[in-house]
Amino acid sequence: MCGIVGYVGKRNATPLLINGLKRLEYRGYDSAGVAVRQADALVVRKSVGRLAVLEQKLAEHPVTGTLGVGHTRWATHGEPNEVNSHPHTDCTGRIAVVHNGIIENYQELRAELTAQGHKFRSQTDTEVIPHLIEAELAAGAPTPEEAIRRALRRAKGAYALGILFHDQPHTLYAARHGSPLIVGVGRDEHFIASDVPAIVDQVQRVIYLDDGEVVILRADGVSLSRLDGTAVEAKIQPVTIAAEAVEKAGFETFMLKEIHEQPRILRQLLARHGWQSGTVALPDFALGAPYFRKLNRVMIVACGSAYHTGMYGKLLLENVTSLAVETDLASEFRYRDPKIDPGTLIIAVSQSGETADTLASIRMAKSWGCKILAICNVPGSTVARESDAVFFTEAGPEIGVAATKSFTAQLMAFALLAFFIGRARGELAETQAQELLTDLQTIPDAIHYVLDRKDEIRTVADKHHDGPSSLYLGRRFNYPTALEGALKNKEISYQHAEGYAAGEMKHGPIALINEYLPVICICTRTRDEVYAKMISNIKEVEARHGRIIALATDGDATIAQLAEDILWVPPTRDEFSPMVNVVTLQLLAYYAAQARGTDIDKPRNLAKSVTVE
Ligand code: M6R
Repeated sequence: MCGIVGYVGKRNATPLLINGLKRLEYRGYDSAGVAVRQADALVVRKSVGRLAVLEQKLAEHPVTGTLGVGHTRWATHGEPNEVNSHPHTDCTGRIAVVHNGIIENYQELRAELTAQGHKFRSQTDTEVIPHLIEAELAAGAPTPEEAIRRALRRAKGAYALGILFHDQPHTLYAARHGSPLIVGVGRDEHFIASDVPAIVDQVQRVIYLDDGEVVILRADGVSLSRLDGTAVEAKIQPVTIAAEAVEKAGFETFMLKEIHEQPRILRQLLARHGWQSGTVALPDFALGAPYFRKLNRVMIVACGSAYHTGMYGKLLLENVTSLAVETDLASEFRYRDPKIDPGTLIIAVSQSGETADTLASIRMAKSWGCKILAICNVPGSTVARESDAVFFTEAGPEIGVAATKSFTAQLMAFALLAFFIGRARGELAETQAQELLTDLQTIPDAIHYVLDRKDEIRTVADKHHDGPSSLYLGRRFNYPTALEGALKNKEISYQHAEGYAAGEMKHGPIALINEYLPVICICTRTRDEVYAKMISNIKEVEARHGRIIALATDGDATIAQLAEDILWVPPTRDEFSPMVNVVTLQLLAYYAAQARGTDIDKPRNLAKSVTVE
């Protein structure tokens, strides 16, 4: 979603804003803009499309000043065009605002302001903010800060804001409610940004803003307060990611780099959560064994790829505990009446920790008295901060829009958590847990094996990439893998792809099968009882002349006779096979996207962090 960067200090703001916006490109956007205070005026430059267009414009019409805000817009209200791009200004052009979020009551506010004589130019919800501030100043607000507070007390919805005033040459204002925003603390300079990667090369210390906070930034300091004016103490924290973590490190794309990082990340997680006192270690974990012993139900909520890992987590938790476990899409869960009581644990899964629907679900469940356990990748994110306990996946910044390393790290987190909970409840025997953990240790090497065979995967992708559609089938642990494989394919290659539980084929989708349709069948095995069922499903596809691409365990002669193409994986315990199989599907989608010439790291219409509903 929209990205925000702001600067106040002694250097020229413009290149710093562009540099920060480039580092936020992964969030997805369709237009961009900056406002910089030059001489006595706020100069605004905007453009549609990639940042390079804005850079070109700035090269032709430079703007220089030590105070500025920049924005990448992911359109919600109004099409992507220059007028709708941020920054937006008031009637006089003396107040400039960049915004991430949605002002839900903007129509009502706009009507009121229009009746007062304010002139609106764009179709956006955001534009009401500068006009509201303008109106509050005209109505007698004694300071810009107070005008911001009064204006924001009237705005409903979500916002992260950066605000400039033409007559405040040394002050940047910001506010947050429901959309992420951080302050970067430098020497004689301060930044605001939507997240840490935007400014990781500029500052080593940050402040994570809380909802309802307004912040005033000057070169020499920051002050925080709440919307009612009460002061807030700034908690300055060190930046924990390295600047190199947001570089491509020689790979052609971030996605390819992140796919290759998976064995290392999983190995790290395994090392951190090794065997200790008869269970897996969960250092610094805020929910202990006594809590899990009393638990009677688990509800997993998440969106997109994280929802797929939640489906996997359910299967694993059911396997090793007696808990009733349900997984739901956060966007659906928040509108359900799921009869949940405080005896239910909510597990919220989110790479970014900023997904609006996941956050809303957490807040709803908290109001019912439930404990929240987050599986999250971003320290300091809202999900992490609002949860009772966090299992950090420690995968490092994920820049490619398509989830890859965060996905396998979430699967691993679920495995380790399930063992911990199973042991805590006395439902998973120590010897069995140890055996499972031993098998889990083989996963990083198994992923290496897949990475080493990427040329074979590329050959298959090259052969099948140009069809209009493809179908992904799996069962049990690999049903979520099938859904994830299809999601990867459609989001980066734009080829329609559908993931399905193979047993459901006969109930409809089998009608799709003909001699042109690639059907990716996940049929790996060690001792899984659904293997035989999967073979039957593949035969049904074969009987209708579907083009079978099988994911199979090395040496499986049965599959070799059925499939047109085979992607081999090493023998892996069935429960953990999704962590390996999905890497094959990530690469399959990757090479299909490459063959189709898409923008792999920044696929069209998508945002990395979905901070609006
Ligand atoms: O940050 P989150 O894990 O909460 O994001 C949830 C989804 O938006 C995300 O998994 C999305 O589906 C991926 N980009 C898919 O690759």
